[in-house]
Amino acid sequence: MPAAPLHDVADLSLAEQGRRRVDFAERAMPVLGLLRERFARDRPLAGVRVAACLHVTPETGALARTLVAGGAELHLAASNPLSTQDDVAAALVVGDGAGSGRGGIGVHARRGVDRDGYAGHLLGVLDSRPHLLLDDGCDLVNVLHTTRTDLLPGVRAGGEQTSTGVLRLRQMAADGALRLPMAAVNDTPMQLLVANRHGTGQSTLDAVVRATGTLIAGTTVVVAGYGWCGSGIAARARGLGASVVVTEVEPSKALEAVLDGHRVLPMAEAAGLGDVFVTTTGNRDVLTAAHFAVMKDGAVLANAGHFDVEVDVGGLEGEAVAVHRGVRPHVDAYELPDGRRLLLIAEGRLANLAAADGHPASVMDISFAVQALTVEWLAGAELGAGVHGVPAAIDDEVARTKLAALGVRLDVLSAAQSRYLSSWQA
Ligand code: NAI
Repeated sequence: MPAAPLHDVADLSLAEQGRRRVDFAERAMPVLGLLRERFARDRPLAGVRVAACLHVTPETGALARTLVAGGAELHLAASNPLSTQDDVAAALVVGDGAGSGRGGIGVHARRGVDRDGYAGHLLGVLDSRPHLLLDDGCDLVNVLHTTRTDLLPGVRAGGEQTSTGVLRLRQMAADGALRLPMAAVNDTPMQLLVANRHGTGQSTLDAVVRATGTLIAGTTVVVAGYGWCGSGIAARARGLGASVVVTEVEPSKALEAVLDGHRVLPMAEAAGLGDVFVTTTGNRDVLTAAHFAVMKDGAVLANAGHFDVEVDVGGLEGEAVAVHRGVRPHVDAYELPDGRRLLLIAEGRLANLAAADGHPASVMDISFAVQALTVEWLAGAELGAGVHGVPAAIDDEVARTKLAALGVRLDVLSAAQSRYLSSWQA
């Protein structure tokens, strides 16, 4: 087999611009910064090869620098072809000098590559024969369990960043197919609260506004799925003055939406009401031809769920008499036989990453601090195949460090209070 290229990025001359953007993001990432200082001192990842599949953004650049500072040899592919920022990819390859912990990363990512290119990038990072994985959507794990099973014995463990990936891992584990220990980084309380609710909430609305210039006030925003992400998106939409309609399949989540003050309807009824639709269910076929048929002229369709299967884009194309590509950056207008146009953001892929900057750096500070500490834990842990929770102490450390960075102080349990909380006799 020919040796795989060490990296595959669009344009190395963009490295300086990318470096400045990673530096800027780091200014809002104090927790990761403190961790990097410790990692650089203690080198807990010395000799560990890590293959990562993450959105290639400035914040991921900050995580990459942290892992490298800890001694890791890092190989990075994108977890979505449209979220790759080519300047960041270049900066991580080039860095700014030997020993700086800022370069020499085997990045395989180019914005906009097709499916074959994307698959080739996953294989490219796996060719490094990793000891640990960092996945975002379970694609690396998938390739490892299908086309590169030869590498499985060398992989000790991994971490999964997103809800959809953890769901897939659990399905694999239930089927007895998962042959690795994988840590559910997504499921830590800090990740769910800060990234899924607040990060996705803000950045998805940001994407809708940037892509379409919609004034949210006075519109009806339909949010499909009232989980961690959907509830955050609904709260932001209402904060900007929209009426929010939620669609759900889980009774408790639907009730939560009602008690939060939103209207809950089946999508068949909501479809005719919405000005903006956001899907965030982690499921497929949430918006389909039956819904497109009754939507208003100019309705905006955005997906914030991990895979591009929530909006049936093929079905939309089948209904359309013309597709006007790029009516604005990241927006295609689908013209229907009766003249209505539906505006699809980012081809139905993750809107907040493709049409905006993804989560703010201060959000990714939390996610990636959890991720970096999880990598450190996994490097020394002996775990069996299956899905593992991240130790609560990691969450606690990240929350405490963030609060300290924000200058927020909290109370401390007295000895009597601790005893009271841990005793059934008191
Ligand atoms: P979650 O499990 O908390 O919420 C999903 C909700 O969708 C559940 O309440 C479920 O009952 C509901 N649902 C499922 N099928 C449905 C259907 N057909 N119609 C209406 N509701 C339906 O998951 P979470 O954390 O909110 O994540 C949702 C998706 O967003 C996942 O794909 C996840 O990977 C992705 N995600 C995206 C991020 C981004 O930056 N855009 C960040 C974090 C997660």
